[in-house]
Amino acid sequence: MPLHPTHPTLYQIIICARSREKNFFKLNLVIKNWQTKFSTSNRIRSLEKIVKMDNEFNVITEGKASILFPKNNKVFYNNVQQFNRDISIAAIKIWSKIFSEEKLNKAQQKKGSDINIQSSSKPSKTYTFTILEALAASGLRSIRYAKEIPNIKYIIANDLDLDAVDLINKNVEYNELSKDFVRANQGDACSVLYQHRSFPDRFDVIDLDPYGTAAPFIDGAVQAVEEGGLLCVTCTDLANLTGSNYPEKCYANYGSIPVKGEFCHEMALRILLHTLSTSAAKYRRRIIPLLCCSIDFYIRIFVRVVTSPVEVKNNPCKTSMLYVCTGCHSYYTQPLAKVTGKNTYVPMVGPIVNNSCEHCENKFHVGGPIWTHSIHDKQFVLRMLEHVKESNNETYQTHSRMLGMLSVIMEELDIPLFHNLSALAGTLHCTSPSLKTFCSAILNKGYKVSASHAMAGSVKTDAPMSVIWDIFRSWIQLHPVTMKNIKENSPARKILAIEPRFYYTSKC
Ligand SMILES: C[S@@+](CC[C@H](N)C(=O)[O-])C[C@H]1O[C@@H](n2cnc3c(N)ncnc32)[C@H](O)[C@@H]1O
Ligand SMILES: [Zn+2]
Repeated sequence: MPLHPTHPTLYQIIICARSREKNFFKLNLVIKNWQTKFSTSNRIRSLEKIVKMDNEFNVITEGKASILFPKNNKVFYNNVQQFNRDISIAAIKIWSKIFSEEKLNKAQQKKGSDINIQSSSKPSKTYTFTILEALAASGLRSIRYAKEIPNIKYIIANDLDLDAVDLINKNVEYNELSKDFVRANQGDACSVLYQHRSFPDRFDVIDLDPYGTAAPFIDGAVQAVEEGGLLCVTCTDLANLTGSNYPEKCYANYGSIPVKGEFCHEMALRILLHTLSTSAAKYRRRIIPLLCCSIDFYIRIFVRVVTSPVEVKNNPCKTSMLYVCTGCHSYYTQPLAKVTGKNTYVPMVGPIVNNSCEHCENKFHVGGPIWTHSIHDKQFVLRMLEHVKESNNETYQTHSRMLGMLSVIMEELDIPLFHNLSALAGTLHCTSPSLKTFCSAILNKGYKVSASHAMAGSVKTDAPMSVIWDIFRSWIQLHPVTMKNIKENSPARKILAIEPRFYYTSKC
């Protein structure tokens, strides 16, 4: 329990010290070690400091961390990002299990190798790993990682801002963690990353959680992460990534042009993955997306990075240009290359679309390139989901939201982008069928359909646009639109001028 005395007297300090002492016995191993190292008078001196801190700071408790946050509010704290931190803790826990299993398998394969297994009885549980939080602010995230994720060797909590670094140190102390375990560091994130490019200095996990874009840190991060290590990246500059702002700004940061569309939050994930994949490719490394989430006003992705020059060659087949009709918003993706023979890559013939849209005769916007391969590893998501199901609100205060998001992601089809039912109905000026009715019609036509976690009312499907519009035409036969309200050259008129080839029935 954080202490908040207004004017601590020596008596109060001793009382506080005693009550804290009781709690010490309930706390974890780190604190037990701490107790054995220091005498009572040292402890009282340290607690005096903590009591003084309580006067200058507000204390925010999140997960197992209690964080001092200056009352004058100089260092960034964003409680809305608690979900980000909760899901990151779960993701790192599962990644570390996989990482450990892989190391164990390797070690078993080459017996007598120099890989350091610290305990011969249960070696799978004793692989330790390092974390760099490159932009750590108050240190909240690093301290939560330190207290909530097992088998961490040490964490570097880095920030450019001296006040932030000072605060990280205070928070490490306040949380009774060793400064060797959570190492506050002042530096530019890029410099820190570039200083750790070579083995054995690399980090097993690198967390980038900046204000706005993570783009300036990506080149360093893809080099400084260990083989099979984990990159956790947040971007909050969604106005750029979703195309609602300046496409040239997105191109400058990510090398991709965003196009406006209902799918824009998933497009943002795919733009960031494109940047990560092309950045890693320069160093003969490829990315393996584990989980990519669109959350409120930001995106958060978890990818592994592996050196694999052969797989890097496949990147253009996993990357596509995007065509979006300016009238009816039909969209199409076209990969940049294909494989014709064993390891022979050729450019695609294109574009995949006509000069104008086959449905409404409007022109296309060209966007991309974007990553169009898988954005989640379902085996990984399943393990996360099982772990979250076994946890509760105490472990993750955003537990129910985590369960919801991971469950939807588990069901998400591995198909790029999605439609929005109300937007499709809006294009045709008709009432919208229910999601259930529309999805049943798609299934009835022999195509797959799912929701996307990135938007309520989303429809992810492999059904071509011709089938989507046909389902709407047949729906409109039963639920007519008032044609006099529809402009002469509008997409709705063009699409509805064609008779439906498929007739909607209540069984669809
Ligand atoms: C969004 S906050 C980090 C929040 C933190 N990750 C958390 O979960 O609580 C961004 C931090 O990045 C720091 N920062 C900005 N540019 C930086 C740079 N080039 N190198 C290191 N830190 C930087 C800022 O001082 C700020 O504290
Ligand atoms: Zn069109």
